[in-house]
Amino acid sequence: MATNTAVPKRATTSAFDEFLGRYPEYAETDLLDQLRATEYRRLDEQGQVYLDYTGGSLYAESQVAQHLALLQAGVFGNPHSTNPTSTATTDHVERTRKFVLEYFGASATEYIVVFTANASGALKLVGESFPFTPASRLLLTFDNHNSVNGIREFARAKGAQINYCPLRSPDLRIDVGRLDNLLGEADSGGENLFAYPAQSNFSGVKHPLDLVGRAQAKGWRVLLDAAAFLPTNRLNLSEIYPDFVTVSFYKMFGYPTGVGALLIRKSDFGELKRPWFAGGTVNFASVQAQAHVLAHSEAALEDGTLNYLSIPAVEIGLRHIQSIGIERIAKRVRCLTEWMLEQLLVLRHSNGHHMVRIYGPTTTEARGGTITLNLYDPNGHLLDYRRVEELAGKRGISLRSGCFCNPGAGEIAEGLTESDMRAAFVLGDDANLMSFTRLMQDRGHKSAGALRVSLGLVSNFADVERFLEFVTEFRDQTSLAIGAVTFDIESCRIFRDGS
Ligand SMILES: Cc1ncc(COP(=O)(O)O)c(C=O)c1O
Repeated sequence: MATNTAVPKRATTSAFDEFLGRYPEYAETDLLDQLRATEYRRLDEQGQVYLDYTGGSLYAESQVAQHLALLQAGVFGNPHSTNPTSTATTDHVERTRKFVLEYFGASATEYIVVFTANASGALKLVGESFPFTPASRLLLTFDNHNSVNGIREFARAKGAQINYCPLRSPDLRIDVGRLDNLLGEADSGGENLFAYPAQSNFSGVKHPLDLVGRAQAKGWRVLLDAAAFLPTNRLNLSEIYPDFVTVSFYKMFGYPTGVGALLIRKSDFGELKRPWFAGGTVNFASVQAQAHVLAHSEAALEDGTLNYLSIPAVEIGLRHIQSIGIERIAKRVRCLTEWMLEQLLVLRHSNGHHMVRIYGPTTTEARGGTITLNLYDPNGHLLDYRRVEELAGKRGISLRSGCFCNPGAGEIAEGLTESDMRAAFVLGDDANLMSFTRLMQDRGHKSAGALRVSLGLVSNFADVERFLEFVTEFRDQTSLAIGAVTFDIESCRIFRDGS
């Protein structure tokens, strides 16, 4: 395989010196450089520039080695029993459950941890079990992930009213005044749910965590989607008490995939109404009596057999993050993000026109390391983000393009109206991101979709400079000059020519 280890031209000593001069605190994060050279050496050995940490983080070699050693040394059976191999598994699963609580500073008297397949699985559990009634409200923010937006289908089926709180443009932050009004409109004695992301996976905006208490004070239950927040931030559940918190562990430390969690406040647990039962969720069930009694613990929400061999790797991953320190990761990501934002904003074509448009905040004030953007030609025409992603790939740079399962943030960021969106649904089953993009071009050259660059755990200055160097190459380039994309995106699946 061809490697791409060349030192970026931009990453000269003087550029790095300038960066360090601006961000002296970056030097305090050098432990991460050491880890990059050891635990994550595969990145530089292969010349990979990984810029999709919001998609998923990367695992350290030692995480995998420790997990392998555990599996090789133990005999682990299905945990739904009391035999020795089953008990060995149960011990690991319960120990991990306890550790997850500890990691989040959550008291075992306050919260329970339900293991799920991913954050989406956790969100679906809340959606299907929440006791919505026709008097209920579901309040969402425009920049919720689709796995949160999907809860509206459960709410709608039970007759609840659904509202979206808008984001302010261009910084894509929650319009808190409007939010307060919407929170105040609900019947405070009803079963109302407010769901929002602690950090947007579209814009990187960190929404205020005190919205949790603010909504609760008005009689709402709050679902905090922490999936995109946790990889670079501490969530302390002894300071705020969301009713539900949703997590995907691979986004925090790369391995294992296939395990997520739903943290539920004990006071809410008894209010949830599961729409079915399954193996593992019942204390008692009968075929002849056609009745069942759900378990009185987290087991009531864990359908079937847990991913019991992967769950112990969650503790290994959490300890890995603890050994580095989440504040250290946050500091590094903040320095690199700020530098990248500044450098992108000054890029101009020879005619003085901007090359890059960034969606969301252009400073690191209350924002994380996720930057969503589009590139434009000298005449202000959008360059196809799929082609840009493709060309980046040829340089060993992994970016994400599309709408990132976050349609609402894109609608606001790109100025798409309700009528634009309704026009898409006239396409019926043919509606997808690509047919929609073509439609928007016909409706006044609006853009739909973008590129996303996200920094994380072992990002470094050279990664940022390699990306900036790549973007600089689009100076004075047109769509014709950069060529046409050779793959298509339908939903989140990629189709290449000939595949
Ligand atoms: C904010 C947010 N919520 C939920 C999810 C869903 O996570 P998963 O795909 O792991 O279920 C994602 C994934 O990107 C996300 O970024």
